[in-house]
Amino acid sequence: MTEYLFKTERLGIRKWRESDLLEFSKMGQDEKVMRYFPSLLSEQQTIDFVKRMQIQQKKKGYAYLPLEKLDNQEFIGMLGMADQDYNIKLDKSESIISEFVDIGWRLKTSAWGNGYATEGAIAWMDYGFEKVELTTIYSIAPIINIPSQSVMRKIGFEKIGVFNHPKIELAHPTRKCALFKKEK
Ligand SMILES: CC(C)(COP(=O)(O)OP(=O)(O)OC[C@H]1O[C@@H](n2cnc3c(N)ncnc32)[C@H](O)[C@@H]1OP(=O)(O)O)[C@@H](O)C(=O)NCCC(=O)NCCS
Repeated sequence: MTEYLFKTERLGIRKWRESDLLEFSKMGQDEKVMRYFPSLLSEQQTIDFVKRMQIQQKKKGYAYLPLEKLDNQEFIGMLGMADQDYNIKLDKSESIISEFVDIGWRLKTSAWGNGYATEGAIAWMDYGFEKVELTTIYSIAPIINIPSQSVMRKIGFEKIGVFNHPKIELAHPTRKCALFKKEK
């Protein structure tokens, strides 16, 4: 039986498995899923990402992790929290935000429009505040990614500004990002 980190009414969060890699790699190659990312992901990039998340989960107790439907154990994507190491300098502000934890999501297209991202994100947010004892959680999306910002608003995050993402190339349309945050 699957061991879940935690469950919601319809969803379970669990560890990464070798068997997720094929489907998760396909998501990284799906133009619709990756529409608001700087590029598609190669299979190796997906494998490296999952390895980083496995290491982080062991070390910190959280990571971007697989999201599964409880009724049929279907893998529908990932949702979770991760440590970020880049600096954010908001437009019209001098202060720098660094070494923060963010919450993020990436679901396969067949799972969109069911409220799964929002349901999973609320549970992750509670986990972050109660179990991990975070006092602030951030969330970031390119300003053109309206569906992702809609999830942030639905889970009670507040937009605090916009910034140029330092890891995204200058002219790319996903470089201008919105920063949202929620305090405990
Ligand atoms: C961002 C993303 C996770 C949002 O997924 P989503 O399914 O639209 O988000 P939600 O889980 O909040 O579902 C919302 C929709 O489900 C509908 N819904 C259906 N049944 C529902 C239920 N039982 N409960 C709640 N909402 C329900 C809602 O009406 C809502 O539609 P609306 O926004 O048109 O009103 C998804 O678009 C995605 O994976 N995109 C690609 C990856 C990506 O961009 N990630 C973010 C990078 S910053």
